[in-house]
Amino acid sequence: MDKYFFLETFGCQMNIVDSEQIVALLSANGYTQVDSAKKADLILLNTCSVRDKAERKVYGHLGRFKPLKDKRPDLIIGVGGCVAQQEGEKMLAKVPFLNLVFGTHNIHRLPELVKQAEQNCQRGSATDFQDRETRLNLFPERTFQESVNRFVTVMQGCDNFCSYCIVPHVRGREISRPSDEVIAEVQGLVSQGVSEVTLLGQNVNSYGVKDVEEISFAQLLHRLNDIDGLQRLRFATSHPKDMTADLIDCFGSVGKLCNHIHLPFQSGSDRILKLMNRGYTRDDYLAKVNRLKEVCPDIRLTTDIIVGFPGETEDDFQATLDMVEQVGYADAYTFLYSPRVETAAAKMVDDQSAWQKQQRFDRLLQLQQQTSTAIWQTDIDQVLPVLVEGKSRRSESQMFGRTTTNRIVNFTGTSDLIGKIVSVKINESHRNSHIGDRI
Ligand code: 5AD
Ligand code: SF4
Repeated sequence: MDKYFFLETFGCQMNIVDSEQIVALLSANGYTQVDSAKKADLILLNTCSVRDKAERKVYGHLGRFKPLKDKRPDLIIGVGGCVAQQEGEKMLAKVPFLNLVFGTHNIHRLPELVKQAEQNCQRGSATDFQDRETRLNLFPERTFQESVNRFVTVMQGCDNFCSYCIVPHVRGREISRPSDEVIAEVQGLVSQGVSEVTLLGQNVNSYGVKDVEEISFAQLLHRLNDIDGLQRLRFATSHPKDMTADLIDCFGSVGKLCNHIHLPFQSGSDRILKLMNRGYTRDDYLAKVNRLKEVCPDIRLTTDIIVGFPGETEDDFQATLDMVEQVGYADAYTFLYSPRVETAAAKMVDDQSAWQKQQRFDRLLQLQQQTSTAIWQTDIDQVLPVLVEGKSRRSESQMFGRTTTNRIVNFTGTSDLIGKIVSVKINESHRNSHIGDRI
């Protein structure tokens, strides 16, 4: 009998890639993916726990499935990802209708866990961390949907232990994937029509550092640049402390590398950066940004910023505002600090009121919005190369693509342009995208 599964994914690009593996594994085991929980025999959530809000969302979503389970007791409901890793068996106690919990290192066991749940209506959890070898073998097949751009994982986990961050606790230690495998995967994707690849890892800059025989991330970029048919390369995320001179130079010397870098600075205050255990000072960061701008004058930067870290004073916050002004970020992801279990910062004294934090957050957002608007408006009247990704949601006759600086551009065009780089004159700049004319 055919079986159907419904999968919902929350959080970062890592979870998106993990979900692609889940789809491939379940498809190989006789399951077909459906787009509605109501049609499914198996419901899975791939979850994020980076902030409290994301974690609470998981419980909210699970609640929505309870009526379905009441109607159909044989329905299997499972939770994977970072919340599953963090909570483990506790989740089974908290959510009585939940069947299985699988952690970030246990995706490969999913078919077996589902089978157990189906056969004996058992409930179970698997959240043990795996050794390096097992994990390296866990870069199995992914589903391939035809697309212009794809993520390729180069490393997993994180050794940095920034004091606010749960990632090292739920994703485990860093491992880098052998460069030959990464190169072969990219070659394979290109031969299937992929034009742009984004290399993924919690901290791609430390790629290969722990493996004496492995090439560096900068060398990997050069090797990938040589692949015929690949048009564009991107990577995320970078840790400023590991942004080496040779990696910065790649923005001048690796032709296919896009003119964009996401370089989270988190706080502009040296005192807070130290408390965050970030391993760089404001001046270190600014020196690297200046060098990036020298090597690639057209580069656009984006960043992550945390507001309201324990003990943040008005002066510390001013230093953050000042950094936003000095660097001029094209976009910034701004977050209110959220205490996470097991992290060092959760034990620090936090004496600011929620109101005060919100005020700062709003001030930062306002400054960033002004900055973003001003930066993106400088594209108006320019003719920019746009890699066409698909049909625009705005109208039937419109296509959309992306500039090398990672800006979405909508323009009138036809589907045969998908996967090609076209020249578009930018006419208007809106909140999240440009509008232009193909020339
Ligand atoms: N509170 C708020 N923001 C956080 N981030 C990570 N952990 C926390 C936390 N506990 C943010 C950081 C990181 C981004 C992915 O999420 O800015 O770069
Ligand atoms: Fe978290 Fe820091 Fe690792 Fe990024 S580098 S995943 S913020 S611990």
